[in-house]
Amino acid sequence: MEQRAFGRVYVWQLPVRFYHWINALAVSALAITGYLIGAPLAIQSGSEASFSYWFGTVRFIHFLSAFVFFFNFIFRLYWGFAGNQYANWRNFIPTTKKQYTEILDVLRVDILQARIKPLGSIGHNTLAGVTYFVTFLAFLFQSVTGLGMYSAMSDASLPRLFSWIVPLMGGDFAVRQWHHVMMWLFIVFTMIHVYLVFYHDYVEGRGVTSSMVGGWKFIEKESSHLK
Ligand code: HEM
Ligand code: HEM
Repeated sequence: MEQRAFGRVYVWQLPVRFYHWINALAVSALAITGYLIGAPLAIQSGSEASFSYWFGTVRFIHFLSAFVFFFNFIFRLYWGFAGNQYANWRNFIPTTKKQYTEILDVLRVDILQARIKPLGSIGHNTLAGVTYFVTFLAFLFQSVTGLGMYSAMSDASLPRLFSWIVPLMGGDFAVRQWHHVMMWLFIVFTMIHVYLVFYHDYVEGRGVTSSMVGGWKFIEKESSHLK
């Protein structure tokens, strides 16, 4: 049996873990309620219309989750400057040659299923970081288009700041289409994301999956990465 010594590194601080799971829950609620808003169920009922307010409830859950999602996202942006080295914004935008080489290494692991030496990164690997950066741009797009649509139905000051989005994007119909298409990006991202988390857990043996629960990863002691 292969014996390797591992050291424990505290990678994901509590705010990052809270951010992650609140975000995962909010996005799931938004995708389910958003889908129902786009394709409402034709529920037949003999009762008084005002007793079957289910579509209003669906929209309420969408808007409630949207505000949780939005402020949680703003908090993560702040934590990209205030958090530890693994939470820092630099992990999401590759600038060095070493990071670009790691992207190719990870693609070889993910697509060609090649076995490689332990990855240099302890936090997100560079490819994962870039992918999360793309999702952050999508979060921004979803927030801006959502708040733009919401400004038509609310007098609150936050959505009103985005009232110019709908005319800019060509009207309510176009904004809803883009907002809808983006939902599928999150669904596809989540499926690939969870698969890759489990796969990297298996090939790296560093405890990636549980790291988003307890915060710790296990890094090879012999590797120069463990400082
Ligand atoms: C991951 C995040 C989100 C997802 C996946 C999502 C998904 C959706 C979907 C699929 C629709 C239905 C579009 C259609 O086909 O007509 C919708 C509607 C809507 N969403 Fe979102 N959304 C998200 C975030 C937000 C945010 C942050 C807001 C901000 C307030 C928001 C506000 C709205 C509004 C106002 C509508 C139109 C509701 C109506 O006219 O009844 N959404 N969303
Ligand atoms: C059961 C479901 C999920 C599991 C087990 C899971 C697990 C993880 C793990 C272990 C990481 C850290 C990976 C690394 O070291 O690079 C991570 C990061 C991340 N995940 Fe998930 N995830 C799940 C669902 C989701 C969902 C639904 C979303 C949003 C659509 C999401 C978005 C993210 C983001 C944005 C990061 C980067 C976190 C940061 O640095 O702020 N995850 N996830």
